[in-house]
Parts: sequence; structure tokens; C-alpha cells
Amino acid sequence: MIALAADHGGYQLKEAVKRHLKAQNIAFIDYGADSEAPVDYADMALPACEAVAGGRCDKALLFCGTGVGISMAANKIKGIRACCCSDAFSAKYTRLHNDANVLCLGGRVVGTGLACELVDLFLNTPFEGGRHEKRIEKLMKLEQK
Ligand code: RB5
Repeated sequence: MIALAADHGGYQLKEAVKRHLKAQNIAFIDYGADSEAPVDYADMALPACEAVAGGRCDKALLFCGTGVGISMAANKIKGIRACCCSDAFSAKYTRLHNDANVLCLGGRVVGTGLACELVDLFLNTPFEGGRHEKRIEKLMKLEQK
């Protein structure tokens, strides 16, 4: 199950990605926003990230204007490893090496075609494990600082 959330700056891209997921029969829960009316990205990130941290969803796809604000918000939530990216290499390697569980995209940065490609890479690339395990462990211990 995939969690989706956006602020007003990412709303249109979220809707496009929803259509892309539906076409592939990928199940999702949409945590809003439901329109382009202004909302705050921190408020929008929290329920979707809690769904991932709590195990209700496997991963989340978050959207704001740049992807940056909502990724900052997501990375403050315990258990979340969020990556804001706009290139295929990062979308792939944040899964392989960082075991990222949240992908953040900028609705004012990437077009629909690239966004859907990044989503597919993110959802279909497994964590490589091995030498990256201890790095993830150290990363998650930073939450306690
Ligand atoms: C909203 O105007 C915009 O600031 C927000 O969507 C995001 O880009 C922040 O990082």
C-alpha cells in the first residue's frame, strides 16, 4: 500500500501520479490535499509518513512545489527516510543504498512523465542491504540526537 500526500504546489502532480498508479493497479491511500487551496506541507506530510512508520503503508510519495519542504518535514518523523529527487539515478540509488521509504517530488520542478518514471524506479528497486545495513543503522540512531 502506498501513501500519497501533497500541498497545493504538488497537488496536480499527485493527481497525475494517482492516475499512473491506478493504471498499474497499485493500491494507494490519498492523504490529501484535495484541491489547490493553500495548505502547509508539514501538515500534509505527517499523516502519510505516520502510515509508513506505523506499517499501514509500505512507502509514501509526497509532493510540494519543490519537493524540498515536504521532504524536510518527512525526515523529521521517526522511522522516515525521505529523498527529494528529480533524477533517475537518485531515485534508484536512494532505494539501493539508503532504503528510502518516502519519495518527494516537486510539482514545479519535474514534469509528469519524468515523475512517473521516478516513481516506478523508486517503487520497483529493492534495498541492496550488505554494507549499507550498518549505515542505515547509524542514520536511524541520529533520530535520538
Ligand atoms: C508553496 O508555495 C511552496 O513553498 C511549497 O509547495 C514547497 O515548494 C516548499 O518547499
